[in-house]
Amino acid sequence: MPKFRLDKFLRDQGIATRSELKEYIRKGLVRVNDDTVKDPGTHIDSDSDKVYVNGELINYKKFVYYMLNKPRGVITATEDNKENTVLDLFPEDIRRRNVFPAGRLDKDTEGLLIITNDGIFAHNLMSPKKHVKKLYEAVLDCFPGDRAIDVFAVGVVLDDGYKSLPAKLEFLQKQGKVIARVEIFEGKFHQVKRMFKAVGANVLFLKRLRIGGLWLDEALKPGEYRELSQQELDLLGG
Ligand code: URA
Repeated sequence: MPKFRLDKFLRDQGIATRSELKEYIRKGLVRVNDDTVKDPGTHIDSDSDKVYVNGELINYKKFVYYMLNKPRGVITATEDNKENTVLDLFPEDIRRRNVFPAGRLDKDTEGLLIITNDGIFAHNLMSPKKHVKKLYEAVLDCFPGDRAIDVFAVGVVLDDGYKSLPAKLEFLQKQGKVIARVEIFEGKFHQVKRMFKAVGANVLFLKRLRIGGLWLDEALKPGEYRELSQQELDLLGG
């Protein structure tokens, strides 16, 4: 039975700022079951108590999980003095829940990024030991030849001498606009770009399409996000 102080419960749900919450409680706008509660330190049980703010029932959620289609031009960070971050794409009430990106995409990379406030979940998703697979689509400046498929299949030696884990490479288009899909099982700095560089091609555009078994929802335009269902969350590990 998770028990919380009322003010902490409301704060964690991202309802309003700390001072706004104080004000709501003081004005008698917060109800627990049938009673108006004016003591912010009142203990509530998130399983059995029903909490209302301004008459609206607050659905308790310990953690939140979002799928973002990261646009180019924003950095994967929670805050920055100069650059726009992925969190700037989210409204205040979500940001107040202390969400952060679970994983990293370069500033010029687009696509699937998970935003959550669940530290353990994020750690598992990002842990190098878990080898969660990630699928990227890349537009290249030239066709590096079919031999690149074999090079990727055994692991690519990167510019710092590190040999990547075996990766699956396929070409969707070899002429004109060269389009490749690559599935990797780790996430080193600039990994995909460096892998292509090692076989003589530059990445002009990169998009992450899938993490584990979860595909980016193509209905999401760059910059848009939506909450994940439990089924989708389960796909992330697989
Ligand atoms: N590999 C890269 O080079 N960049 C990314 O953003 C993700 C994977």
